[in-house]
Amino acid sequence: MPVTLTCTGHATWLIDTGHGTLLVDPFFDECPGASMQAKDVACDAILLTHGHFDHVADLVAIAKRTGAKVFCNWEIGQWLGKQGVETVQPMNHGGRVAVPGGTAKMEIAWHSSSLPDGSYGGNPCGWLLDVGGARIYVAGDTALFSDMERIGRPDAKGRGLDVAILPIGDLFTMGPDDALEAVRLLKPKLALPSHYGTWPPIEQDAAAWVRRVEAEKLAAARAPARGEQVKVG
Ligand code: NI
Ligand code: MN
Repeated sequence: MPVTLTCTGHATWLIDTGHGTLLVDPFFDECPGASMQAKDVACDAILLTHGHFDHVADLVAIAKRTGAKVFCNWEIGQWLGKQGVETVQPMNHGGRVAVPGGTAKMEIAWHSSSLPDGSYGGNPCGWLLDVGGARIYVAGDTALFSDMERIGRPDAKGRGLDVAILPIGDLFTMGPDDALEAVRLLKPKLALPSHYGTWPPIEQDAAAWVRRVEAEKLAAARAPARGEQVKVG
């Protein structure tokens, strides 16, 4: 069964594993151009990369309404507990958990993390997913780092990455040049850009980035429209 990935806007992704839907970094109602509203989101688990508002804005409402388990770092977990979210699984870098359709491992990321009310947000992360038969790396907000070579290595069964979701917006994360180098290190079959175009400071020509990835024969690449489904596997 294919895995379906949908960017609803900015860096928010819905990943239908065939056994349930994972929601990464819920940011809907205040997100310019988002393809749906928070009240319409259905999900079985929520994965967070860090505590900045453009990644957690609709988190509490969606977690409470759906009862979805929230996987996040310890500090965000404490913050959620204070707001009455009882379905939290706090964890930290290197940890691996079961999610609908497979597993999710919390990976490192180079960024910062504080929560919208100013609370300490712990360390940011990325996610390495093995779901529905596909290996998917969600980088989160990050700079380029050389451990991406390790993250991209084939697993014990010799399976490399099927998909890498990478920020290209620049300013707060990697820009297009470093994201191209990230594809070189990660060696995914398919590269998908994220975290761009939401506001003028992170405007980028995603189609041009896709052409560069493909011209250098690093991977297949696509820049789906918001709400457009990408099927893999
Ligand atoms: Ni951020
Ligand atoms: Mn961000």
